[in-house]
Amino acid sequence: MDERIITSHKLEEDTFEKSIRPDSIDEYIGQSDVKENLKVFIEAAKMRDEPLDHVLLYGPPGLGKTTLAYIIANELGSNIKTASGPTIEKSGDLAAILSTLEPGDVLFIDEIHRMPRYIEEILYPAMEDFTLDIIVGGEGSSRNIKIDLPPFTLVGATTRAGDLSSPLRDRFGIISKLNYYTVPELFEIIKRTGRVMEVAIDDDAALELAKRSRGTPRIANRLFKRVRDFALVLGNGSIDLDIIKTSLGRLKVDELGLDETDHQLLMTIITKFNGGPVGIEAVASSIGEEMTTIEDVYEPYLLQIGFMKRTARGRIVTELGYQHLKINKDGTLF
Ligand SMILES: Nc1ncnc2c1ncn2[C@@H]1O[C@H](COP(=O)(O)OP(=O)(O)OP(=O)(O)O)[C@@H](O)[C@H]1O
Ligand SMILES: [Mg+2]
Repeated sequence: MDERIITSHKLEEDTFEKSIRPDSIDEYIGQSDVKENLKVFIEAAKMRDEPLDHVLLYGPPGLGKTTLAYIIANELGSNIKTASGPTIEKSGDLAAILSTLEPGDVLFIDEIHRMPRYIEEILYPAMEDFTLDIIVGGEGSSRNIKIDLPPFTLVGATTRAGDLSSPLRDRFGIISKLNYYTVPELFEIIKRTGRVMEVAIDDDAALELAKRSRGTPRIANRLFKRVRDFALVLGNGSIDLDIIKTSLGRLKVDELGLDETDHQLLMTIITKFNGGPVGIEAVASSIGEEMTTIEDVYEPYLLQIGFMKRTARGRIVTELGYQHLKINKDGTLF
């Protein structure tokens, strides 16, 4: 995938996120329902001196799932061990990770929907009874052995809860959906990032940036970083509304945070498919993007702001979408 500035995928530069990543639940802005409930469950688990029930976090990229997993471990006073679905290829890989767990540890598995099914099956008894069933020995002499695991908490993160098998999903006691952030929440996140990075940003500038961040903290922080460069080179280093407008103009991020790819996506549906309905495969091949990238990254926000709709017969661009692009139903500009 190309590295578009508003992508909510992780890029190299995101290592800087480590310093601006909140590490306690009270510093974590927004997602108040998820947060308040988690606080109670964490508190209760500590009072009972039991591990927290397994947690599944799902929602679009860049909304703070990984951040929350680390916060959960911090709040529990536990260590966190991390793994990622697609990198667990052999059952031995998972067994090796599980066997390093200590009592009360948090095991964070990112992109848990991309774990192969036969690996998932090893997780079931581990999650349910804290046991590891493995097969030892070779052909003819193989036998099953059970190994006890210490009590631990699995935190799984996924952008696609629907791709999880139901036996796996059912083994999570706590399932939390992260939603797009509101403008006031993003405003707070941006002001916080400014404080952490020691860059002054005016309130009206922070508000404008918040509006153009697609409801996504990762995008807010990434745009912040680029705007900071413009402020340094074109101005005196501090960020005002003019700097925001100039720099986001140059980055081709529009008033609602849509970039050239979003425009291309909507325009393709309008001009090549008469505004839809059209299947996602056709759109994907037409703009040269992966179908899953469109589904996970581009489309959710366009659906959220009502520019696109999913119907039984495919995607359509809505009236609002046409208006934003300043296009009439017949494809002419107005
Ligand atoms: N609630 C929040 N308050 C403040 N900053 C946040 C919050 N949530 C996320 N962030 C910031 O956004 C960045 C991206 O968050 P994170 O990496 O946790 O997203 P994610 O949901 O795990 O994304 P992915 O699905 O791509 O793994 C973090 O580094 C952090 O700086
Ligand atoms: Mg993550």
